[in-house]
Amino acid sequence: MTQWVLPTATSSYAVSLARDASGLLLDGWSGDAAPRPWTEPERLSFETLADTLPLEYAAMGTRQVSGAELIVDFGDGQVGARPDGPPEITFLDEEPRCRLTARFTAGAGRLGWTTVTETDRRHDVVRRWVRIDNTGSSTIELPRAFSAAWELPVGPGARIDYLGGRWSHEFTPYAVTLPAGELSIGSRHGTTSHTYSPVVTVSAVTGGASGPAYGIALAWSGSWRLLVDAVPLRDRVRVGGGVDDESAVITLLPGESFTSPESHGVFAPDGTDGVTRRWHDFQRHALARSTGPEHRPIVYNSWYATEFDVELGHQSELAAVAALMGTEVFVVDDGWFRGRNTDQAGLGDWTPDPVKFPDGLGPLISAVEGHGMRFGVWVEPEAVNPDSDLFRAHPDWVYRAADRELVTVRNQYVLDFGRVEVVAWAKQMLRDLLADPRISYLKWDMNRPISDGGRPGDVHGREWSLQHARGYYQVMTMLREEFPHVTVEACAGGGGRIDHAVLAISDVVWPSDETGPRDRLAIQHGFLSAYPPSVMSSWVTDAPDLVDVEPASFEFRFVVAMAGVLGIGSDLLAWDHAQRRRAAELVGLYEEIRAVVHNGRVVRHGLPADDVYAVEFGGGVEQGHRTCVLVYARSTRPETVQIRPTTLVEDRRYRLRGGPDTFTGGEAAAGIDVPFSVSADADVLVFEPAG
Ligand code: DGJ
Repeated sequence: MTQWVLPTATSSYAVSLARDASGLLLDGWSGDAAPRPWTEPERLSFETLADTLPLEYAAMGTRQVSGAELIVDFGDGQVGARPDGPPEITFLDEEPRCRLTARFTAGAGRLGWTTVTETDRRHDVVRRWVRIDNTGSSTIELPRAFSAAWELPVGPGARIDYLGGRWSHEFTPYAVTLPAGELSIGSRHGTTSHTYSPVVTVSAVTGGASGPAYGIALAWSGSWRLLVDAVPLRDRVRVGGGVDDESAVITLLPGESFTSPESHGVFAPDGTDGVTRRWHDFQRHALARSTGPEHRPIVYNSWYATEFDVELGHQSELAAVAALMGTEVFVVDDGWFRGRNTDQAGLGDWTPDPVKFPDGLGPLISAVEGHGMRFGVWVEPEAVNPDSDLFRAHPDWVYRAADRELVTVRNQYVLDFGRVEVVAWAKQMLRDLLADPRISYLKWDMNRPISDGGRPGDVHGREWSLQHARGYYQVMTMLREEFPHVTVEACAGGGGRIDHAVLAISDVVWPSDETGPRDRLAIQHGFLSAYPPSVMSSWVTDAPDLVDVEPASFEFRFVVAMAGVLGIGSDLLAWDHAQRRRAAELVGLYEEIRAVVHNGRVVRHGLPADDVYAVEFGGGVEQGHRTCVLVYARSTRPETVQIRPTTLVEDRRYRLRGGPDTFTGGEAAAGIDVPFSVSADADVLVFEPAG
């Protein structure tokens, strides 16, 4: 029997064709060079062979009782499809990539689906997706068209780690043990959502941290669903997912096709931390366009200092101080454009407000550049206030569900990015804005869910969430292609749209509007389990925070923000001399460790709620083998703290920067006492090779 083995950096993904040709089977996914073919059960009861198979993709109708990723409605009173015969298979091994495609036909040639599996020897992620074609002469509906299914040999049952939350509480880690049953997470927001992140980590019920673990993610920013199915007493757990099947029905007219978003999977023999490490490698090297500081600069953003009260003189004063602190880009957030004095008006009218900026943005840009910084602005191209010239001119451009009353959230509607003319308008608006080449940073925000989507009368109207995501990708891709010098920060009211697709078209993301340092530390702890520090925008803001009132030192706030892409959002004009000097020192310290923080291997020690919590960034050869540990203490304020870094090389000698003693990596891993030097509640430890 033919087996196709697709290698990743440290594992291999082996697939063969089922004996009954009902689909491809996962034979094995491991560090072993040649996984064995899957063996059929000796006895079947109340199920067919196809029901028991580890099918890579199953259509309802192909099996009798097991779940399916594809549901096809031919419109003839029957639902389901079964392959007409064996698929047409193509296997391409073009160093470093490998790709397997299998094209099935069904319904006597009326439908085709092609599953694609791709690996790359430079990272450990397996990428999978499907293309579905209507090759017949009548309309086909797809009530469900997931991207892929993953058969994970962790059963019976599983432990599932995932991330959820709400606005200002994003990326809260959750874990469930599922002896049997289904866990479904997803979004109906039309965007990725604050509610759940499209990524799960699956391991054996007893295993988790040290046993083999699998990560499954979706590269999709519309509504989505991930479904973990722990069928009772089965040694494999199935994870399927893709475009949300509750809010969308995909219609394929004759000749039309649908290509699903990608689903990504990773195998780690060394537990959940191993999954995190492999995700980070992939995100940094396969998704991001670069890893250097040019697209992850130190930002000053004026939102927390001024909110909508933006005005040339005040912004210029802030810029002058921000430059002294060492920030590299000055970003004017919401409030700079026509009629935008509150969140009730102006959204959609993207020219500088004539009262706040009588001569346009030019004078502010010149001032900012004069201080040696780049300049950036905030935009929210997908939304519009009812009180705006754009809405008055184009009331038909917003999503409207038939005669249902329009619903505002944050006083705004959503523009229908499924319409060609709306996407064309958004592109042109951004081209006009960026016509001044001195604008080199854009923060793209989106502050509401796309509820009540739809386009009555349009045969594809039920696909609004898909179309919206694709329209968003088109405009973001245009920015990449036409304005490569522009750094793009992706935001959706904090962390409402963060996923692998967004990481591939933006440079940094804003994980949350919550910047209170203790809460932020918890949000970052969850974020870093799935996404890398090199994209994690984090600003120092003023205390007290509205939500997080636990006292923390000035330095603590900086050390929290230093765990990602540092920025400042405080009202700098209210800082005294000593604070400004200290801030400049801390920014300088960050510049020294930035490459290690962005590119190092992340190990989280303990939990943010512990008395002492630390995040380690283990730098490799490119970072001169330096390791950096950011340490956070609660009010206990220890004089010394014991740290156990795990990324140092065991027999190499190190010195703690500023300290006289040397020790081996092995000695450090056993635990070394270090003094708290940056402040009483936070420290930055830099381990450097000695000699
Ligand atoms: C929500 C964002 O997350 C904030 O950072 C800020 O840009 C506001 N929107 C502005 O309206």
